[in-house]
Amino acid sequence: MGWVSLSYPATRITHISVNMDIKEELIKLKKDALEDVKKIVDPDAYKELYAKYLGRKGELARLAKGMKNIAESERPSVGILVNDVKMALESALEDAKNTILGSFPDTGDSVFDITLPGNKVNVGGLHPITSFIWEIEDTFRELGFGVVDGPEVESEWYNFDALNAPSWHPSRDMQDTFHVKTDKEEKMVMRTQTSPVQIRAMETYGAPIKIIVPGRVYRNEEMDARHEATFWQVEGLVVDKGISISHLLGTMNYFIDRILGAKTRWRPGYFPFVEPGLEMDIECLLCSDGCRVCKGTGWLEFMGAGMVHPNVLKSAGVDSNVYSGFAFGFGPERLHMLKYGVNDVRLYKSGDLRFLEQF
Ligand code: PHE
Repeated sequence: MGWVSLSYPATRITHISVNMDIKEELIKLKKDALEDVKKIVDPDAYKELYAKYLGRKGELARLAKGMKNIAESERPSVGILVNDVKMALESALEDAKNTILGSFPDTGDSVFDITLPGNKVNVGGLHPITSFIWEIEDTFRELGFGVVDGPEVESEWYNFDALNAPSWHPSRDMQDTFHVKTDKEEKMVMRTQTSPVQIRAMETYGAPIKIIVPGRVYRNEEMDARHEATFWQVEGLVVDKGISISHLLGTMNYFIDRILGAKTRWRPGYFPFVEPGLEMDIECLLCSDGCRVCKGTGWLEFMGAGMVHPNVLKSAGVDSNVYSGFAFGFGPERLHMLKYGVNDVRLYKSGDLRFLEQF
């Protein structure tokens, strides 16, 4: 090619025709290169042409090297031309890359690999307890339960009194309570349980009723591997004519079977709003012969339950001579821990993605 001759001694002669040659070479280079660029059909061709014209050892670089042999007075105009050619080639090559080949990663002028995977976009996910509560809701929905919500800042009346626990009642000590100052006359608390929604739901919907109430509850607890000051509960309430304790046992045994598939046992238990009261234990799935979590007993306390106390039905305006019912309340975090072998409840609110991303 003609411009190869640039390196021959004549270029050192400060003669106008030599500089004209360089300019002509540059113009020709631009024309040829733009023609070539039009023919790019794949990344390899792009790579090749980029190297050929704009690479470190490319043709433009070689021409530009000839600058030092040009008369000083000519240098600015040749320089402008070199720049013009360079910009025209760069933009033509860029256009070819974007429009003809689509966008493939710009890894400089040496490597293009359109088979490289794209950049991963991180999207958020549901918290494991959120999706677990949805699973619990679905299981109860299949049994005909509705899902109901209630306030987390609750009056003492709903949280205790209406549930058969007046202010003097010793059972109030069972739940260390956060009291809340408000401008209301009523005394307010952060609800210690989801049971107040039993009353609210019966007031709103009357009887018969069949609901669960998932929600957050608050207790002024010492925090450890099994206890937190904020946690979840799922309350359940079924009120109808002729409801007996066998409905309670049948429903809850079925539920545990579906969600966990573990052995359970029932014990008598005390809660002021049920009579008789029961507690369900689940076999400890974290060990086979007794561990720290089950304190060597092989069983974990799981759920409070019982037949709704007539005083509770009365508080909510339901006739206890006509209706009876059962109620239950359990912690979905405890259930999740058993299901997945999690040995510290504090992990759920740790925000640690290494933990959360496993579910
Ligand atoms: N609310 C009780 C608790 O927080 C659980 C419970 C609910 C017990 C319904 C009986 C009936 O421990």
